[in-house]
Amino acid sequence: MTLEWDAAEYEVVSVPHVGWGVGLLGRALERRPLRGDETAIDAGCGTGKITELLLRHLPDGTVLAVDASAAMVEAARERFAGDGRVRVEQQDLVRLQVERPVDLIFSTATFHWIQDHEGLFGRLARALKPGGRLVVQCGGKGNIARVMGATEEVMDDERFRDFFEGWEDPWNFADAETTRARLEAAGFEEVETWLQDEVTRFGSIDELARFLKTVVLGRHLERLPESEQQPFADAVAEKVAAAEDAFTINYVRLNILATRGRGP
Ligand SMILES: C[S@@+](CC[C@H](N)C(=O)[O-])C[C@H]1O[C@@H](n2cnc3c(N)ncnc32)[C@H](O)[C@@H]1O
Repeated sequence: MTLEWDAAEYEVVSVPHVGWGVGLLGRALERRPLRGDETAIDAGCGTGKITELLLRHLPDGTVLAVDASAAMVEAARERFAGDGRVRVEQQDLVRLQVERPVDLIFSTATFHWIQDHEGLFGRLARALKPGGRLVVQCGGKGNIARVMGATEEVMDDERFRDFFEGWEDPWNFADAETTRARLEAAGFEEVETWLQDEVTRFGSIDELARFLKTVVLGRHLERLPESEQQPFADAVAEKVAAAEDAFTINYVRLNILATRGRGP
């Protein structure tokens, strides 16, 4: 089932994501600059903040911005209203359909929400032209480990326990080697995958709780009545802050640069 996002809140709190997006694009384009007239997909575009970064490099190109969340799609459509280079579609990436294969697929902070990476990479390969490029960053092995520990402790609290019966973690934090093998099996070449630590600091416990609530804990919160959602996020933030002795999330990003092979 599709997770719905609070797009307005996400737009405000997703500050670290912009830095990650700039870093990834910079690195990818240093290796192979764009001409500026390519066709691209932003896979999991959210509100379109990072799509904007991509568009700066595509003055004569086009971007198909895809997201599964209705709220995110609406926000991205508003953002790009009047920009003929962008089309926004609500689609599940695991079943991605495109009219014509594109030159570039770009994606940030999305693939760890998808369990079936083999299926996903197969879809992406089919959506790319032979020789087309995949540029991705998402959560990787070890990502938000302390947040996960703190969240499990809070879920086990008497106040919340009954809501999490049959719970399975929503994230897929893959490692670099497994991801490389999956990409090669899906027909990608020149595959580079690597993990990167990104310690992210917040100014206060309230800022940390707000961020966790909007960006990290969506799947948990949808199990809870509204009245319990803020207390749950606050409790996780308190435990994270206590364990870290700071308002910090230890992110580990998985980076992917790959080229769709020229074979069938
Ligand atoms: C953390 S946001 C990242 C948004 C944007 N790329 C950024 O970096 O700010 C993750 C996005 O992935 C989308 N998403 C997650 N699973 C998806 C799927 N299977 N198909 C399409 N979008 C998906 C969510 O709806 C959400 O908008």
